[in-house]
Amino acid sequence: MNSSGSLSRTEAWRLLLLVGASGGILVNTVQGDGAPLVASIALTGIAFALGFSMVRWLGPVFLKAGLKGKDMAKPRRPEIPETMGAVCAVVYLLSLIVFIPFAFYKDIVAATSGGGNRDVVVEVHHVETGRYLHRFPHGKLASYLSGLLSLQSVVILGIGDDLLDIRWRHKVLIPAFASIPMLIVYFVDFGVTQVVVPVPLQRYVGDFVDLGWLYYMYMAAVAIFCPNAINMLAGINGIEVAQSLVIAVLLLFNDAMYLAPVTPYPHPATDSHLFSIYFLLPFIGVSAALLCHNWYPSKVFVGDTYCYLAGMVFAVVGILGHFSKTLLLLFIPQIFNFLYSTPQLFKIIPCPRHRLPKFNAVTGLLDTSVTEWPIPPSPLVAAALHLLHKLRLARITTNEDGEIVESTNLTILNLWLVWMGPMKENRLAWHMVVVQTACGILGLLVRHRLALLVFHHDNRTFGLV
Ligand code: UD1
Ligand code: MG
Repeated sequence: MNSSGSLSRTEAWRLLLLVGASGGILVNTVQGDGAPLVASIALTGIAFALGFSMVRWLGPVFLKAGLKGKDMAKPRRPEIPETMGAVCAVVYLLSLIVFIPFAFYKDIVAATSGGGNRDVVVEVHHVETGRYLHRFPHGKLASYLSGLLSLQSVVILGIGDDLLDIRWRHKVLIPAFASIPMLIVYFVDFGVTQVVVPVPLQRYVGDFVDLGWLYYMYMAAVAIFCPNAINMLAGINGIEVAQSLVIAVLLLFNDAMYLAPVTPYPHPATDSHLFSIYFLLPFIGVSAALLCHNWYPSKVFVGDTYCYLAGMVFAVVGILGHFSKTLLLLFIPQIFNFLYSTPQLFKIIPCPRHRLPKFNAVTGLLDTSVTEWPIPPSPLVAAALHLLHKLRLARITTNEDGEIVESTNLTILNLWLVWMGPMKENRLAWHMVVVQTACGILGLLVRHRLALLVFHHDNRTFGLV
């Protein structure tokens, strides 16, 4: 792959072809009733082409502006452009904005005199007696825009983080601020804070329980968790984008199961899953474009901006689509990585600035990175580390007095290397993709099969049973 900042002739032709075909499809959708799903697929094609070219073109510009990072797992630690996720984020946000008329095309037509005949609508008596605007789904547009606003906020704050390298304890809260627009609109628009109670507990608390403000705390927690969790499972080429793509594709698959003909229409969940698809498709487009440049050996880094954007996309679709629990089932590796990291995050065990696996220049392989203990840990921490070592959940090195001098950093990447031994960077990335996919499929099976043990029915069969 070239890193000169320009597209090769073959690439240019292929991308042009993709843009041409997608553009043609997009124009065609306007003639029917808007066909928003088809329009969204076409926009995804355009977003891919634009994202791919812009990342290539802007790489050298970012490098010159000092937005760069050292690739730690390469012999010479080359400097490559960082924060390239911001470029994809802009393309993504623009695709979401351009999509608005397509999503609401049918409603816009219905809100006018019927054929999109606007002159009729502006007549004063129509305005006074109420034109058909009441048919327009303002609620849906409001939640779409609130999702967009939250995504925009997270991108702005993410770029700030990439530029200023904000400290961890401060930046964890970035997504919390970004989630405010979405939560506010949720409050004024849906306000639904009831949850279905699992069958065994229904005898005690009834079928539904209203969580009130606790539900808002829960949604804020999801919005804080997802972006940070993706940012924490990072540090080897391609891993941030690859895990996001796997989650997005699995979510898309889950959404598709709620569409006709799999689930007969009308179904109460169809609209919220369509909503999710509209957010996910262009995200998949720009992420795939970014992955082409970020996969091993990386030509660009994605930056925290991308990690936050990805996590926020998932939080937005999970919260506004009302399937945040399903979402969390697709985050099993990230949840494990977070829980496993907590001793370092809470400074019970020292946490170096970087915990990514260590490159061995002699073998060309990645091995575990370690935390050094210049002063031996307290007896309690030492006992815990010895136990983790015995359970093969970490590796420690002791000196001749039996004191711990080194312990592996507590991340899923290091743990995998403890289990599997040193390996090449791209192999480790592939392993993580497989783990993410396997856990995700398992999560979806739990959601649609095992959940029947504690709930009356899967909501896909709502109204049919
Ligand atoms: C998070 C992790 C940190 C990890 C880092 C790697 C926590 C608490 N923090 O920090 O342990 O080291 O992500 O991204 O878990 N890099 C590579 N190869 C890659 C990707 C990144 O060498 O494929 C290096 C580059 O030097 C790059 C830097 O990581 O500049 C980016 O780190 P940054 O995103 O700023 O780290 P954090 O998100 O703060
Ligand atoms: Mg990061």
